[in-house]
Amino acid sequence: MMGKPLRIAIDGPAASGKSALAQRLAAHLGYAYVDTGAMYRAVTWAALNKGIPLTDEDAMTRLAESLDLDILPPTVADGRPYTVQVEGMDVTWALRSPEVEAAVSQVSAYPGVRRALAHRQRQIGLRGRVVMVGRDIGTVILPEADLKLYLDADLKTRAQRRYQELRDRGEIVSFEEILEAIQRRDALDQGREVAPLRPAPDAIVLDTTAMNIEEVFHRVRLLIEEQCQETTHVAG
Ligand code: CDP
Repeated sequence: MMGKPLRIAIDGPAASGKSALAQRLAAHLGYAYVDTGAMYRAVTWAALNKGIPLTDEDAMTRLAESLDLDILPPTVADGRPYTVQVEGMDVTWALRSPEVEAAVSQVSAYPGVRRALAHRQRQIGLRGRVVMVGRDIGTVILPEADLKLYLDADLKTRAQRRYQELRDRGEIVSFEEILEAIQRRDALDQGREVAPLRPAPDAIVLDTTAMNIEEVFHRVRLLIEEQCQETTHVAG
């Protein structure tokens, strides 16, 4: 790698701070922020909306292959990092509902669904100047990424963060339910056969349990600066 990393992959379990870090990094570097979780959520939302049984793997695969899905810069200034449209409909906040949250890991475990979305994701990633977030970016989607980060934190801490996030948006949720939902999703994401959640062998693992987002961002900026200096040194 020469100079700044052109492709940054960020993976990790639910509510580990991936999106918050990615948004700051992308803004700092002038890169695109690409949240692959939104794509799995969009397919899940569409299936629930159309009444497609989530257990019908073939139907779910066809849906992922054919879905009219767009991720755009924010169209409303309500704190959203991007706008997601499914068949022209703004589903940005609907993707965060407990129904989608409860079903998404079942959908994302289907190899056909992953194949369909992975293709779209890789095309975007290969353009470069991108911070891409998900579960399998460093391992499957962009194994050639210049910088791979794996964010982790205690289950309780992550549940607390998600709880606070939802409360801040005015939603009435119970901490226990959030914790259980996260735990269930992590188990499915780690246990599936295709592209399970795990750090790539060359990923830098950051435990963010005792760090706030500004501290994580600072740490990663230092990592990038070090990496730039090392490559300049080797090259020179
Ligand atoms: O924000 P949070 O970490 O809670 O979730 P997300 O990143 O939006 O991902 C939602 C779900 O999509 C995950 O629990 C995975 O089941 C799936 N996913 C995946 O399988 N692969 C990815 N690259 C991204 C998300």
